[in-house]
Amino acid sequence: MRILVTGPGRLGGPLIAELHRFGITGTVLHRSAPDSLPPGWRSVRADVTRPESLAGVCTDCDQVLHLAAVTHSNRSDRYTEVNALGTLNLVAEARRAGVQRFTLVSTRAISPAGGAYSRSKIQAEKIVRDSGLAWNILRPAEVYGAGGEGISTLIERCRQGRWIPVAGDGSPRLAPVYLDDVIDGICRAVMAPSHGGVHVLAGPEEMTYLQLIRRLAAFFNTRPRTIGVPAGLLALAGRALALLPLEKPPLYADQVARLFSPKSHDTESAFLAFGFAARPLEQGLNALFHPQSGALA
Ligand SMILES: NC(=O)c1ccc[n+]([C@@H]2O[C@H](COP(=O)([O-])OP(=O)(O)OC[C@H]3O[C@@H](n4cnc5c(N)ncnc54)[C@H](OP(=O)(O)O)[C@@H]3O)[C@@H](O)[C@H]2O)c1
Repeated sequence: MRILVTGPGRLGGPLIAELHRFGITGTVLHRSAPDSLPPGWRSVRADVTRPESLAGVCTDCDQVLHLAAVTHSNRSDRYTEVNALGTLNLVAEARRAGVQRFTLVSTRAISPAGGAYSRSKIQAEKIVRDSGLAWNILRPAEVYGAGGEGISTLIERCRQGRWIPVAGDGSPRLAPVYLDDVIDGICRAVMAPSHGGVHVLAGPEEMTYLQLIRRLAAFFNTRPRTIGVPAGLLALAGRALALLPLEKPPLYADQVARLFSPKSHDTESAFLAFGFAARPLEQGLNALFHPQSGALA
């Protein structure tokens, strides 16, 4: 099987290596060159917002695995341009090339109330479902082990025992999922004979934000202090920070809405369709922070 993978970022990079281990080769669509590619893989430089750059990217590919997206931005139109319209452009190219299956990596934070990122992913999902192609939609939960904003920042603050702002009463529910398990799930979905499902790729346990902090503190044996901040105030701060010319703001305009957006924790369809199973939080943290201890891989 040959596959086009878009967006070799935090998930896409290790995913390509894992696909290769399963004997799959293909093409990587990138804007900034990936460090190195496994043998048998080629790279093509393109931007999903520029349809002309996509001409021929699907050549010789049986499937498309679409990860390229803007995940944190203070420009809501950027989410729409890249995540929704970029998907539309890629779907058009996939159809032209006669690709057999299109897999979209979406998000578990999928709700009209979930902010601009969430809404752009709703649009992307609809585009894929209406594409006329065979499709899969995968909705990862909060991925840890890959770095970046959100859960990785929270884990790091807990590890260091630093103070942690908690939005509202700390009740938003999270289902952290270890990077390797999400990668494995995506590979399984690509290789599965069946398609056509919307599948949540989440950790086995859902917990509140506060419960997660307690579990992390217990794991790291630290005592991070929590500071409750009204959710409305935090959302306002996010919008205010968006007005400043910060390259990496500590909070993005839509992040509070995304945190509070309703999320499904039903991983059964992913288990039934392609055997997805994720390890519990402490096992993932062990694999990440104490790999020499022989934690389950
Ligand atoms: N990480 C998570 O916790 C998580 C959770 C749920 C869902 N997801 C989804 O999983 C996917 C991958 O996430 P990630 O964490 O790996 O994100 P990431 O590290 O930010 O990677 C995003 C990739 O998309 C590329 N990209 C952005 N705009 C593009 C454009 N206009 N044309 C072509 N490529 C473009 C980026 O290229 P540049 O490096 O050039 O910008 C980068 O390679 C995303 O669809 C995200 O929504 C992630």
